Amino acid sequence: MKQISARRPSDAGQVAAADEVHPGGAQNRRAADQPPPGTSRTSGRQAVPSLFVAMMACLGILVVMVASLTGCGQSQAPSSPAQASAIPTVRVIPPSERGEYLGNSACVTCHPKQAAQTQTRHARTLQQVTADVHAKYFSIPARLLDPLEELTFHPQFKGGRCVIQATGPQGTSEAAADYAFGSGAIGYTFLSYAGGRPTELRISHYVNGSRWEFTPGQRMGGQSNSPVGQVLSPNHERTCFACHSTVLVSRGAGLDLQQSIAGVSCEGCHGPGRSHVEAVRIRAPDHRMARLSTMRERLSLELCGQCHRAPDNVDLHAPGMAVQLPRMQSVALSYSACFKKGGLTCVTCHNPHGDAASVTHTEYNAKCVSCHSGPAPQRPCPVQPQGDCVNCHMPSQDVGMPTSPRFRNHWIRAW
Ligand code: HEC
Ligand code: HEC
Ligand code: HEC
Ligand code: HEC
Ligand code: HEC
Ligand code: HEC
Ligand code: HEC
Repeated sequence: MKQISARRPSDAGQVAAADEVHPGGAQNRRAADQPPPGTSRTSGRQAVPSLFVAMMACLGILVVMVASLTGCGQSQAPSSPAQASAIPTVRVIPPSERGEYLGNSACVTCHPKQAAQTQTRHARTLQQVTADVHAKYFSIPARLLDPLEELTFHPQFKGGRCVIQATGPQGTSEAAADYAFGSGAIGYTFLSYAGGRPTELRISHYVNGSRWEFTPGQRMGGQSNSPVGQVLSPNHERTCFACHSTVLVSRGAGLDLQQSIAGVSCEGCHGPGRSHVEAVRIRAPDHRMARLSTMRERLSLELCGQCHRAPDNVDLHAPGMAVQLPRMQSVALSYSACFKKGGLTCVTCHNPHGDAASVTHTEYNAKCVSCHSGPAPQRPCPVQPQGDCVNCHMPSQDVGMPTSPRFRNHWIRAW
């Protein structure tokens, strides 16, 4: 069975497609031997053949997805203990494999302790646009002018639809938003299928100040290929959806979004559950589910890093890239001595089934002190051994996004 993956590195065509969407992307390619600025190069994995994926819209940067992401040859549910040790990946599957996925509601019946995951930002990070949730944003009386293109953008809620209108010398164009990317904690970027083509709309809604701004990657000056926004190539469409979904079902060159599972939930991190549930039902000794708790040292880069960026794929020397480091948590953490020498992982601090904000600084700091209290090498802080470790060693930084949301730099060091 041929698996269609959004991130097959051998597919040279995708590189071209990504560069097409984001001109200038090629210059961001990583030179294999460059260390990140200000540090020695992190040891370990080889750079993979480069699939460079433009994601200006999300980050204004370029990344490459790792080979582990492609899920090549892993399109079946794990069927042996050996396969059960593979880190799951978010995949684009043919419709024939959709039955392997059961959806969150099946999982939480037997795993009520993890049920709260379905309410987290991960789970809400991609939603279909509905009047109930989104009309209020489109009702804000906003007008954004791009003087270079002489286009004025205007959100509207009309006829039960959430619409972006672009008015200029050539007349008026409009597109209804179909999908909302982002849980809303920072903001939403909308995708429209008006005319059957996936179009990332030109303006996005931000929580801070509750206002509309140009979508990152589509700022002023006619960088977009349609008046209402950027029409995405099929590969770019898949890449976007892949980092914000649990599983994607392909339909021809595009996606069958009705059959796909939007938002990052159970089977996104754990893999398809059908054979697991069958195994559990017949009380098989192998319950056919990846044992992530036994692979903790691999999780930060191989599981979380699929979406939170893996270090092999990022060239921090590329223009505008270093400032984005706080948004690339897996990359930043991989530069930290705590990670390299102490085995610190994402799940040391984050409950994968909860929201980061539900943990207090006191609790995060307690994690630091759990290592940094004894003798060398994990010495206590010479400056403030009882202070707010996170504030000094994981500073909150502006990454140049509209409305300036701040991100914690996960490169833990003396800043
Ligand atoms: C019919 C009940 C049932 C359903 C439905 C179910 N599970 Fe399980 N699951 C179990 C049992 C029983 C275990 C074994 C618990 C143990 O060994 O402590 C388990 C174990 C697990 C583990 C732990 C694996 C390990 O050893 O670290 C994970 C992860 C898991 N299930 C995820 C899921 C996901 C995701 C779904 C939805 C696709 C799901 N389960 C659906 C009953 C179920
Ligand atoms: C399939 C892609 C994907 C994977 C895998 C993934 N994440 Fe995320 N993560 C996201 C996206 C997308 C968001 C943005 C959520 C939003 O829209 O607010 C996010 C947000 C977060 C946040 C901030 C939101 C919050 O308050 O919790 C944390 C923390 C986080 N992820 C940690 C992790 C960890 C730890 C892992 C690995 C165990 C992981 N993620 C795996 C895609 C992913
Ligand atoms: C490599 C994986 C990846 C790709 C590709 C990706 N995102 Fe994201 N996205 C994330 C992660 C991880 C987060 C949360 C952490 C963060 O914001 O740094 C996020 C957050 C967001 C947010 C929440 C607000 C914000 O900006 O933080 C929006 C909106 C968003 N992405 C839209 C998009 C759109 C639209 C695309 C495609 C054009 C896209 N993303 C492609 C991983 C990805
Ligand atoms: C962002 C990735 C992610 C998502 C989404 C996710 N999990 Fe997990 N889950 C993990 C990781 C990582 C571990 C291992 C945690 C550890 O080692 O502390 C885990 C552990 C588990 C375990 C084993 C429990 C244990 O204490 O060992 C179960 C059961 C489980 N998850 C079920 C679920 C269910 C059910 C859902 C959906 C409601 C879900 N998970 C969603 C990443 C995720
Ligand atoms: C799992 C154990 C562990 C945890 C948890 C941990 N660290 Fe570390 N940390 C280490 C180790 C090991 C080193 C390397 C010590 C050395 O090189 O001698 C280190 C190094 C450091 C350094 C020196 C960095 C450098 O580049 O030399 C700082 C600062 C630091 N940690 C702060 C923190 C803070 C703040 C936290 C919590 C946010 C934290 N650590 C959590 C294990 C840990
Ligand atoms: C030493 C503890 C620690 C580790 C390890 C850690 N984080 Fe965080 N993370 C934090 C803290 C503290 C915050 C800020 C939480 C807040 O302000 O509510 C945070 C916030 C985040 C956010 C939200 C965006 C932001 O900057 O506020 C994301 C996404 C995230 N972490 C992902 C990850 C991923 C992925 C990993 C593993 C590569 C990881 N984290 C490892 C402590 C940690
Ligand atoms: C007010 C800011 C501040 C706070 C709060 C703070 N630190 Fe530090 N820490 C520093 C600075 C500055 C240095 C570098 C000192 C130097 O190089 O002389 C440092 C150094 C360190 C080192 C490296 C020590 C070494 O010998 O290499 C560790 C480990 C560390 N801090 C851990 C922590 C932990 C754990 C906490 C929380 C209990 C914490 N820090 C709180 C500012 C702070």
